[in-house]
Amino acid sequence: MESSFSLKTILTISLFLFFLTPQSSLAIKVPFHPQDLLPLLPRQVSWPILNYLNGAVDLLPTFVGAASSFNDTGEWKGACFYENRAWMEFHNKTGSEFGGGTLHLEVSKAHSWTCMDIYVFATPYRVTWDYYFISREHTLEFKEWDSKAEYEYVKRRGVSIFLMQAGMLGTLSALWDVFPLFTNTGWGENSNIGFLEKHMGATFEQRPQPWVTNISVDDIHSGDFLAISKIRGRWGGFETLEKWVSGAYAGHTAVCLKDSEGKLWVGESGT
Ligand SMILES: *[C@@H]1O[C@H](CO)[C@@H](O)[C@H](O)[C@H]1NC(C)=O
Ligand SMILES: *[C@@H]1O[C@H](CO)[C@@H](O)[C@H](O)[C@H]1NC(C)=O
Ligand SMILES: *[C@@H]1O[C@H](CO)[C@@H](O)[C@H](O)[C@H]1NC(C)=O
Repeated sequence: MESSFSLKTILTISLFLFFLTPQSSLAIKVPFHPQDLLPLLPRQVSWPILNYLNGAVDLLPTFVGAASSFNDTGEWKGACFYENRAWMEFHNKTGSEFGGGTLHLEVSKAHSWTCMDIYVFATPYRVTWDYYFISREHTLEFKEWDSKAEYEYVKRRGVSIFLMQAGMLGTLSALWDVFPLFTNTGWGENSNIGFLEKHMGATFEQRPQPWVTNISVDDIHSGDFLAISKIRGRWGGFETLEKWVSGAYAGHTAVCLKDSEGKLWVGESGT
């Protein structure tokens, strides 16, 4: 009963928009998808539609590049826009210690009139998102860097850009999952654990006390593997997103090796 009602709602809304939009003559020529218009609908309307249509859509954002000031990202193909590139411009509009920056994102060659691409932009200190459905250069403003650490990070590594591949529907509901990851609270921690479990099937179990143990070199054997997974705070949220995107289960790893004289070496991953 409920689903037929939702379907009727969708049809009504799409017909309504169809007749009201000045572009309806264009819409006739191109395949028209009601979901293309979802972000334009009031939230109360779009959420029930999402719930109806989304089901178990599994979505993965794709890392398309990191925009830094030196080089643009190179071109990538979006779901809607086929030619995209981005670059970063640093500024000091607020006269703050580390200044801020503007991310420029140029999108072109849309494959239909009603489609759009959704992007998630992340540094380890923040995550934000935006969607585009007009071919032109868009900008995303970072008024001020949060700290020296963020400033240095963006200068060196750039702002990471993720394209939400699964299209609008899955995306919006996934963002619902993503935002709590970045809060540095017990809620954020549980969100990270819940997210990894739901989307990657990874479980984290609290180990019994004592949580701090002294180990000596003798306790370590060649080949022992250490994996660190952050699950709380900004880095935790960033790592969760990285894991989700890359399919990795650890954020940082190290392998212990002993040489022929029994000397311990620890090889660490670079990330
Ligand atoms: C930018 O790109 C050029 C050519 O692709 C390369 O030679 C240069 O090292 C890059 N610079 C940085 C800072 O990545
Ligand atoms: C931005 O301007 C302020 C005030 O002029 C200055 O103290 C600060 O060092 C500048 N920051 C950067 C990153 O240039
Ligand atoms: C670990 O070693 C330090 C220094 O030897 C000691 O103070 C501490 O109590 C030890 N901790 C545990 C859990 O054994």
